[in-house]
Amino acid sequence: MTHIILYGPPGTGKSTIGKLLAQSLRLPFIDLDRVIETNAGLSISQIINEQGETAFRDLETSALKTLSVENDSVIALGGGALLRDENRAFAESNGRILLLMAELPTLLDRMKKESGKRPLLTGDLREKLTALLEKRSEHYTSFPLKLHVDGKTAEQNAYLAQVALGRHHLAAMGEYDVVVGQVSNLTNFLMQNAIIVTDENVAKFHLEKITNLFNAKSVIVPAGEEHKNLATVSRLWGAFLENGLDRKSTVIALGGGVIGDMAGFAASTYMRGIDWVAIPTTLLAMVDASLGGKTGFDLPQGKNLIGSFHPPKLVIADSSLLHTLPERELRSGMAEVVKHGIISDPDLFAMCQHGMDWVKTNLEDVVKRAMAVKIQVIEADPYEKGFRAALNLGHTIGHAVELVSKFELRHGEAISIGMAAEARYSARVGLTGSGVVEAIESTLSALGLPIHIPEGMPREEIIRVMRVDKKKNAKAIRFALPVEIGRVELVDVADLESVIDH
Ligand SMILES: NC(=O)c1ccc[n+]([C@@H]2O[C@H](COP(=O)([O-])OP(=O)(O)OC[C@H]3O[C@@H](n4cnc5c(N)ncnc54)[C@H](O)[C@@H]3O)[C@@H](O)[C@H]2O)c1
Repeated sequence: MTHIILYGPPGTGKSTIGKLLAQSLRLPFIDLDRVIETNAGLSISQIINEQGETAFRDLETSALKTLSVENDSVIALGGGALLRDENRAFAESNGRILLLMAELPTLLDRMKKESGKRPLLTGDLREKLTALLEKRSEHYTSFPLKLHVDGKTAEQNAYLAQVALGRHHLAAMGEYDVVVGQVSNLTNFLMQNAIIVTDENVAKFHLEKITNLFNAKSVIVPAGEEHKNLATVSRLWGAFLENGLDRKSTVIALGGGVIGDMAGFAASTYMRGIDWVAIPTTLLAMVDASLGGKTGFDLPQGKNLIGSFHPPKLVIADSSLLHTLPERELRSGMAEVVKHGIISDPDLFAMCQHGMDWVKTNLEDVVKRAMAVKIQVIEADPYEKGFRAALNLGHTIGHAVELVSKFELRHGEAISIGMAAEARYSARVGLTGSGVVEAIESTLSALGLPIHIPEGMPREEIIRVMRVDKKKNAKAIRFALPVEIGRVELVDVADLESVIDH
């Protein structure tokens, strides 16, 4: 992996946000100005006053270059550290740069509190800062990844930095990193004797590249839910043995949710549990199945009846792998993205409202935001004791519709129907308004997803399956119902007939 580099005008909070970010990601934090001061035995002000700005910039260049040998860290740079082309080229090839931006009043407010520490801005602060921002405007604008920090706390900004960077460290169930980015840039973590588990469809497009990147062996299984069973898991255990996997080996799951669930389960049980890494290749697997540590397989009696909690050691979400995904699968994955927007991210929901063409050209941003929602929920409630049930939005009706359709409907299509039906129910019981229902229905439709239970699908059958699907003796079923975009409420419903509209 690579350094995370925070850059931007003075006063944007690079050090404060950087420390919090480093803490969340369990990475070391380096403040380049402090490194320069330690090396020189002088404060930045002293260096500039005594030796001039060029001498300071030289020290900055050499301090920056020593960082290539450090372990991955969060690094806060001075506000002009990347003005030199050689510094910028070095930073870009050794890390991901996030530019922090703020409006002038925010900067002035912050900097007044630490007057005296900014040697290049002595005198009339407003005048100096305005001139400096004007002079560097083109320079700062040229950094593609930006975060506007105005009006937010340092904690909020540190979290938004994680979302923008697509970097998270999960700790509630096992400890693992989630990284959004090109898999070819993410191969510098140690994996001994690794084996890739994939299916025949994914293998056609991506196996050769991933095998070469990780120098791994591979096992290919048939694609599809109908193969998510004990026979395939057993085949995986056999392949692990044949390839000499031991307790230190790693299983790499390269595929959709079916592959992740089975490879994760096989890894969780092989030699009492070995490491696995998830490289999801469907949108659903990126934003949902690869996160949360649930693994398993189906029995003839029902889906996911056998399983374990065994989180991967790392999740790598490379949205470019989605370019080969059939359109219907991509749309299906979008249902979960919309769901995450409704649960807690109105901005993500607004992104979905742009429709499928927009989504396709902004896939990485969509993936980053949608993953972040699921991560927040599972970190707060890893073992589904409370709020994790919010993720069930659309799923109570959706699962039943999926089953009654005999899997003619893709999972996401069924969830889309479920979300729309549950939103309409929420409006009928006065929990939400018609505006929310309309927004949900029109967004799902813009993504080409269905919003009504198919004509002729027997309602009594759906209700029967909903009852069986949940705890048999439960008097009521818990629904996650939308209240507004960004907020759901958990509600127990006894009268299931009333939930399904006709
Ligand atoms: N563990 C969890 O928390 C969790 C959460 C949600 C869903 N799931 C499980 O996930 C499964 C559904 O996952 P899914 O929707 O990813 O289905 P999937 O794994 O069956 O993949 C869908 C289809 O797309 C193909 N495919 C995958 N990636 C491709 C690519 N990049 N290019 C071309 N083809 C590709 C697959 O071969 C398959 O035919 C279900 O079994 C469900 O139970 C698990």
